[in-house]
Formats: sequence, structure tokens, C-alpha cells
Amino acid sequence: MMGIKTLRVLASVAVLAVAGSALADDAATTIKARKDYFHGLGKAMKASGEEFKKSPPSITELQKLAAILDAEAPKLPSQFPAGSGPESGVKTEALADIWAKPDAFRKAAADLATAAHAYNLTAQKGDLAATGAALKAVGAACGACHRQFKAKDEH
Ligand code: HEC
Repeated sequence: MMGIKTLRVLASVAVLAVAGSALADDAATTIKARKDYFHGLGKAMKASGEEFKKSPPSITELQKLAAILDAEAPKLPSQFPAGSGPESGVKTEALADIWAKPDAFRKAAADLATAAHAYNLTAQKGDLAATGAALKAVGAACGACHRQFKAKDEH
């Protein structure tokens, strides 16, 4: 016969197992949403670059894309809740340093928000050359964070 103590232990093990898999599910959902989020940024950046290859580029189109990036960039830090790193067991290119060096990560994210905001303000003024330079600065802010906090693509 199992004693009451054994039953309690078994019950708490079962609760832990359920909690553990709920956490893994949470991480999977968070990481999927995060990748979708970055795909959105990537799309807006790629479309911006493509626009500049046209002659002439459409400033109206660039204004729309810059506004998207300006609105989306400040949402970056919230894509990285604790527990959504490599320790989650879910496939992710997010490096553990994001959580180990939170100040540096926050700064990299803030630099992007600043650059995206400048891109938007510049585009709204309608000067194509200045808008192109502002777009380059956004790209540099993406790359600066990736170099520090994102694992290299396998593909
Ligand atoms: C503050 C850091 C930071 C900034 C700034 C940043 N990224 Fe990322 N990015 C990451 C990290 C970390 C990942 C890995 C996410 C993962 O795999 O969970 C990532 C992943 C991506 C991915 C791959 C998504 C996938 O499906 O795996 C793309 C595309 C991307 N970023 C585009 C951009 C673009 C475009 C910008 C600039 C507009 C940008 N990122 C700015 C940190 C950043």
C-alpha cells in the first residue's frame, strides 16, 4: 500500500511535470511570436531597401515602412521574457547574454528604437537622400545587436 506521504510526493512530482511542460509550451509560443515579430521587421527593412532600387523611389511607400519600423521597434524588449532563451530547450538563436547582460541588451534595443524613429521623422520630411542615410543607420542598429546577441544562422 502507498502511504499518504508517498502519494503526496507523487502528486507534487506530477504537478512539477505539468508545470514544466507548461513552461516549455510558453517558451515555444513566445519564441514563435518573437520570430514572427522579427520577420515583420525584416520585411519592412527589405521593402525599404527594394524601394531605393526603384527610380525614382516612392517617398510615400518609404514613409509607410518607416512608420511601421518606428511603431514596432519599441516592442523589441518585450519579446524576450525570462525563460525564453536557449535554456528553454526550444530552438532559438537568442543568446544567453541577452539575460546575462541586460543593460547592454537594453541599449542595443534602444539604439534601434532611436534609429527607427529618426528614419520615420526623416522620411516624413520627404528628403530621399537623408531618408536613405537614416535607413542605413537602422540597418546598422539591427546588425550591432545581432553580432552581440544572436547566434549565427545555420543557413
Ligand atoms: C536588441 C537586439 C536586436 C535588434 C536591435 C534586432 N534584432 Fe533581430 N534578432 C535578435 C535576436 C536575439 C534574434 C534571435 C531570436 C530567436 O531566434 O529567438 C533575432 C532574430 C532576427 C531574425 C530571424 C527571425 C527567425 O525567424 O529566426 C530576423 C529576420 C531579424 N532578427 C531581423 C532584424 C531586423 C531587420 C532588425 C532591425 C530592424 C533587427 N532584427 C534588430 C536581436 C535583435
